Amino acid sequence: MRVTVHRKAHFNAAHRLFRKDWDDARNLQVFGKCSNPNFHGHNYELIVSVTGSIDPDTGFVMDLKVLKDLIRTEVEDAFDHKNLNIEVAEFKDINPTAENISVVIWNKLRKHIDLSHDLEVTLYETPRNYVTYKGAK
Ligand code: NI
Repeated sequence: MRVTVHRKAHFNAAHRLFRKDWDDARNLQVFGKCSNPNFHGHNYELIVSVTGSIDPDTGFVMDLKVLKDLIRTEVEDAFDHKNLNIEVAEFKDINPTAENISVVIWNKLRKHIDLSHDLEVTLYETPRNYVTYKGAK
């Protein structure tokens, strides 16, 4: 019997989507408002989902307080109120799209979560646009 537990979190961050080898017009055409050279912010909503067996001793799949603290140290402390392009090393050479942010978050959390558990990250960039990542298969 496998059960999924979820923890919601939130961070605000600025970004710009662009390619250095493209001019502003082409960046605007492909990335739209997200290519604004002066950056802009999003209110990101994050859902971290952990699937596993219920521990018979605790009744937990995973202690959600442990997951909460992990999200705080690995994601919120690293991304909240930051300019992702400039201040977060993982995005030095990759565009901070919701897709890439979700992969970075998954990789940061995966190494701290029991390997018998499956991990999925859901990241909302806007209330209507969101991505999910559950690891490379
Ligand atoms: Ni944007």
